[in-house]
Amino acid sequence: MRRLTTPSGDAYYLKMLEPSADEIRDWGDSVMQVVTDYFGELRIRTVYRQMSSREIRDRLDAALPTKGIDFDALLKVFRETVIPFSRQNAHPRMFGYVQSPGTPVAAFADLLASTLNANLTVWRSAPAPVEMERLTIDWIRQILGFNGEAGGLFVSGGSMANLAVIAAARQARNSSSGRLRIYASSETHFSIAKAAVLLGIGRENVRHVPVDKRFRIRVDDLVAKITADLGAGNVPFCVVANAGTVNTGAVDPLAEIREIADRFKLWMHVDGSYGAFAVLAESARELFAGIERADSVALDPHKWLYLPMDVGCVIYRDPEIARAAFAHEAEYTRIIGEEADEAFAFWDYGPELSRRFRALKVWMLLKGVGLDSLSEAIESNLACARYFESMVRGSDDFEMIAPVELSIFCFRHVPAELRRESPQAIDAFNERLLIALQRDGSSYLSNATIGGRFALRGCVLNYRTTLHDMDILLDDLRRVARSLPSST
Ligand SMILES: Cc1ncc(COP(=O)(O)O)c(C=O)c1O
Repeated sequence: MRRLTTPSGDAYYLKMLEPSADEIRDWGDSVMQVVTDYFGELRIRTVYRQMSSREIRDRLDAALPTKGIDFDALLKVFRETVIPFSRQNAHPRMFGYVQSPGTPVAAFADLLASTLNANLTVWRSAPAPVEMERLTIDWIRQILGFNGEAGGLFVSGGSMANLAVIAAARQARNSSSGRLRIYASSETHFSIAKAAVLLGIGRENVRHVPVDKRFRIRVDDLVAKITADLGAGNVPFCVVANAGTVNTGAVDPLAEIREIADRFKLWMHVDGSYGAFAVLAESARELFAGIERADSVALDPHKWLYLPMDVGCVIYRDPEIARAAFAHEAEYTRIIGEEADEAFAFWDYGPELSRRFRALKVWMLLKGVGLDSLSEAIESNLACARYFESMVRGSDDFEMIAPVELSIFCFRHVPAELRRESPQAIDAFNERLLIALQRDGSSYLSNATIGGRFALRGCVLNYRTTLHDMDILLDDLRRVARSLPSST
């Protein structure tokens, strides 16, 4: 342990800031025990437990820490408070939202990335990490089928990816007169509207287009809206197509939307934050035909590549257009004495300057697992959702609310005694069922509003989930429902 002296002569220890090799090894051993136990006990843990903010705060020492404590004491808080008072996102029956489970290889990648603490601003700041990001981005480009000119970068997530592309799209169609207009189906994730607000385009200039029975954008209505806007002197500039909507997993007809975008000279963006990696699965590939002709795609390795937070990704068909939106000359960022590849700057293609080494976990996952196994895992997730749909359709106490397109399933429970009740009563019952299921802890679903009605919603996004877990989910719902009064 190193002992230093402050300017006033007091002794203090740098133990926590700069531990010795033996101490690092000891801490590592303790951390590894926690990690091993965590993954080992995953299946016997409940996904969620009932808890309150007060309960958690009472366990955390709120006093401003003037003096430090040792590593074991820090780890104890993680083990005894943070783990049990968290939702267990890696659990095979965590079906809520669009939640990836993470994976040990990527957890180690995050540790290594933070050890190196590379800052991926420009090539010279982090040569090997930058090359690794360019390489993994290029692999993603190939997975999507884009030509060799396409490129992009990692960002914090799908919302940031959508923000970046809307900024690039606006730059491509800068207009000094008329209202800029974006088109997207009514099922589009709110991050598109949020991007429009943040970029000063305005929420009201995102035109929501109705959907068909499969929750895909109605292209006839899209054309009608664009035509009407042009007639009114507005400036259509971007159409957003979904490759997996957040509610039901619908994939808009991408090739048709490309034609419409070409006809009206619009930027075509595909929000594939949830679904785009399902292009790796043979049984879903056809749905994504045309994605490689989009002007941009947003996708989230921290969703269907199973990676831990945070890593989103933007692919631009022509990165130079994005450059026009983001490049910003300043003396403190001017690149001196570098040529071509080595003069590369990520800040020219997205909103961030300082950027963490997200590419390491993407690289370790793709290289370590390989596309064959990833395709198999995604295929298995799709099979679980389809299996669940077939069980629901074959039952007389559950009904599907939307078709399963990818790995999302939306449904409701209608036990015999509720069948003659009003839609409102059935919705209210399902809402109570959802809360009770979450508190029960064996399985976790979230919810969606579909056609104005309450839906139980699940999303299979975990390589651990099996068909048996889908059986358990249905059993859990029936068991929990029996304990509920059928009306309040
Ligand atoms: C279709 C879609 N787009 C965008 C997002 C936002 O992604 P993120 O949470 O990574 O910002 C989500 C999140 O679930 C999504 O499902």
